Amino acid sequence: MSSTAAGSLTVTMNGSNHTATLPLLPGTIGPAVADIRKLYADLGVFTYDPGYGGTAACDSKITYIDGDLGILLHRGYPIEQLAEKSTFLEVAYLLLNGELPTDAEADEFHRGVMLHTMVHEQLRQFYNGFRRDAHPMAVICGVVGALSAFYHDSLDINNADHRRISAFRLIAKVPTIAAWAYKYSLGQPFMYPRNDLGYAENFLYMMNAVPAEPYHVNPVLARAMDRILILHADHEQNASTSTVRLAGSTGANPFACIAAGIASLWGPAHGGANEAVLKMLAEIGDSSHIPDFIAKVKDKNSNVRLMGFGHRVYKNYDPRAKIMQATCHEVLTELGIKDDPLLDLAVELEKIALHDDYFISKKLYPNVDFYSGIILQAMGIPTSMFTVLFAVARTVGWISQWKEMMEDPSQRIGRPRQVYTGHVQRNYVPVESR
Ligand code: ACO
Repeated sequence: MSSTAAGSLTVTMNGSNHTATLPLLPGTIGPAVADIRKLYADLGVFTYDPGYGGTAACDSKITYIDGDLGILLHRGYPIEQLAEKSTFLEVAYLLLNGELPTDAEADEFHRGVMLHTMVHEQLRQFYNGFRRDAHPMAVICGVVGALSAFYHDSLDINNADHRRISAFRLIAKVPTIAAWAYKYSLGQPFMYPRNDLGYAENFLYMMNAVPAEPYHVNPVLARAMDRILILHADHEQNASTSTVRLAGSTGANPFACIAAGIASLWGPAHGGANEAVLKMLAEIGDSSHIPDFIAKVKDKNSNVRLMGFGHRVYKNYDPRAKIMQATCHEVLTELGIKDDPLLDLAVELEKIALHDDYFISKKLYPNVDFYSGIILQAMGIPTSMFTVLFAVARTVGWISQWKEMMEDPSQRIGRPRQVYTGHVQRNYVPVESR
């Protein structure tokens, strides 16, 4: 990895001698980015990039991905090191503040988050408004948005203290809101948070405990959950993070912005893929059916995809998938599951796909979702909660990116352009003449 060189790019309009010089903005690593802000003024043209595959919409110091090499760094630290040596709350501090905390800073941050885990009692009433069979993503989308209605005294987005307290509130309360969405779907009493527990431990406690009896969270499972949260904490300018930034660019409050991010994460192309992996493995059923399944995936007319494979940015093994695979083995061992047919099938499927020309030539490798569904299912978490869990983790990334944007003096309202392909101006036709 090397730093990118500054310079410029000259664009000439065909058939004329009009040119525009586009400065190349260097990042610390990664490709340079052509600054097109003056292109319209100089040449009268916009750029076209549906899906924003080649467009940078902001400066950011938080997360770096090299999709070709399969590298993911948070504030410069490789995800492998963070997953092995750090904790989710330490990673949250790092993402928000830019540096790893000292002992004292870590303690203060931990206390700051854990002191905000309870939600206003009136927020409980919101749950009763949902049908019992409501999808937990629908519930958390609504309830997180409703948090905006509870903190009128600290919603000044231009006040650094207000931004800080909103970040604490979101990181602390989203697990409570998520666990209660689950409890509501089961018809079980809501469990209040326990601030003497670790972050992931408390989340598992609120989901699994009942008031009628003591509940001890298995430390191996708490550690696995903490690692899963680390792996999902941030992923630079993905769809949901870009949604949070776009909403935030208008000056909307952080609770509304995070609710927008949750809505964006809900889609199966983003947060819902691990659920699809489990469904796919169940449909394949047995390793003897893998060749038929792979043949279907390769058939252009079938619309079947190998779920948990491929990524918009990674054209190599997603580094998070490797850690997820190791965590999967740890969790199954701890739970005494010697032979998990789903895991065996996934390992076999992965082996076959990684040696198949179709996947090699298209650079399709396992992504973070290939193994995560198997772990979560083994931990007893229902599939409807998979994306919710992702949202709990990604809240940290969203609020860090939102905070960075708010502190960037060059930030302005997000407002993409379009290629208009509709009618040119025409006159209104009265109904009797249509
Ligand atoms: N199985 C089979 N073929 C695939 C797959 C797959 N999983 N993914 C991509 N391809 C093929 C496409 O058919 C296409 O082939 P073509 O060039 O012959 O038309 C080529 O690879 C490129 O695919 P695109 O869809 O253009 O790639 P894009 O970057 O738009 O899509 C995506 C990325 C959505 C993740 C895709 O790989 C996919 O659908 N994967 C399965 C779903 C999944 O696992 N999503 C989780 C992503 S990780 C996350 O959000 C946390």
